Amino acid sequence: MHLFKYRGDELFAEDVPVEKLAEEYGTPLYIYSYNTLLRHFRAYTDAFNDYPHIICFAIKSNANSAILRLFAKNGGGADIASGGELYIALRAGIPPEKIVYAGVGKTEEEIRFALRSRILMFNVESADELREINRVAGIMNIKAPVALRINPDIDPETHPYIATGLRKHKFGIPIEDALEHYRVASRLKNINVVGIHKHIGSQITKVSPFVDALKRVLILMDKLSIQGVNIKYLDVGGGLGISYRDEEPPLPKDLAKSLIPLLKGRRLTLIIEPGRSIAGNAGILVTKTLYLKRGEDREFIIVDAGMNDLIRPSFYGAYHHLLPVIRKKRDTVLCDVVGPICESGDFLARERELKRVKHGEHLAVMGAGAYGFSMSSNYNSRPRPAEVLVKGREHFLIRERETYSDLVRNDRIPGFLR
Ligand code: LLP
Repeated sequence: MHLFKYRGDELFAEDVPVEKLAEEYGTPLYIYSYNTLLRHFRAYTDAFNDYPHIICFAIKSNANSAILRLFAKNGGGADIASGGELYIALRAGIPPEKIVYAGVGKTEEEIRFALRSRILMFNVESADELREINRVAGIMNIKAPVALRINPDIDPETHPYIATGLRKHKFGIPIEDALEHYRVASRLKNINVVGIHKHIGSQITKVSPFVDALKRVLILMDKLSIQGVNIKYLDVGGGLGISYRDEEPPLPKDLAKSLIPLLKGRRLTLIIEPGRSIAGNAGILVTKTLYLKRGEDREFIIVDAGMNDLIRPSFYGAYHHLLPVIRKKRDTVLCDVVGPICESGDFLARERELKRVKHGEHLAVMGAGAYGFSMSSNYNSRPRPAEVLVKGREHFLIRERETYSDLVRNDRIPGFLR
């Protein structure tokens, strides 16, 4: 449930008209709803209330410092995928003892940074990485807390680009090799085995893949305990889907209802790493209509947001609802809504039936709060959009729009070209 709703014919972000925000801050503009973010975060903490747990928000879905601070203030942790995300998380006030670090390609520098920061654990994705963490921890004369990321070979039935838990994927350690890897890990001098991790994919719209994957991991844990490997943290990853079009994904409470009974009698701290299900429907991207153009078999609505601002439609063929910021009684047309970038793949919607829009009118791209701004780029040398957080009647700029000078800030012209 989100708080971007029409009042009459005007779209509101909580108690503020979106049109007003678009006028004040300009477009393209990301707008987030504070109360939606909080509600979605609390849906997790309430659902898992009866079991020791940490909600580690997946920062890759939205790395804005203000949003991370919001979670930090409410007891949240972070799932990170890079040194940059660690930096942002710590700076936003997320305690290191609530930070877990996954990713197949951690560099020595990143490992050092995480060890120095005393994060909760590394979610290790290969034997090679395990040896490297052991080596670096040895130099620093400390023990690195690790979980092994297990690939349980479960099909999450989602888009192939965002499935991660199948045998063919680069992620994690195949479940059948896990015992051996744990044996090796527990013998390494500077490794402290504390956990087990799995993450099977994203935008999952059923509970069953989570249940099946957890069952497999629990069988492994039983075998580990016979071998004397004691797991304290069970990290089940993220992946719960949201409704972009007409999906009806389970809620955190449905997930909790299915998972917690499986954990009865085990003394564990559960870690959950949601990203999209917290931030996705808590944000929209507002864009302005620049031009209209009649193509051979469809109309083109040319808007000021491009694939550099929101890449999901181009990259995954993802569907996002497009809503007029001010509803008008107009006829419907079949159209492509496209951005200004020099690529045919630059579109927000294809072959979409939309009410006619006119030059200068605003459209809201719904469900843009996760993997929206965080995947944006400067392609075509476009400054990235501003981000605004709305709380009731109040609104706050939480990231300034980039300027032209930001685009060249890190460029250097060598002396011989001066
Ligand atoms: N934990 C790990 C280890 C992950 O790799 C991810 C996402 C998450 C948690 C959070 O998953 P979520 O709850 O958000 O589904 N860019 C794609 C999604 C890529 C997801 C990558 N990993 C998209 O726009 O759909």
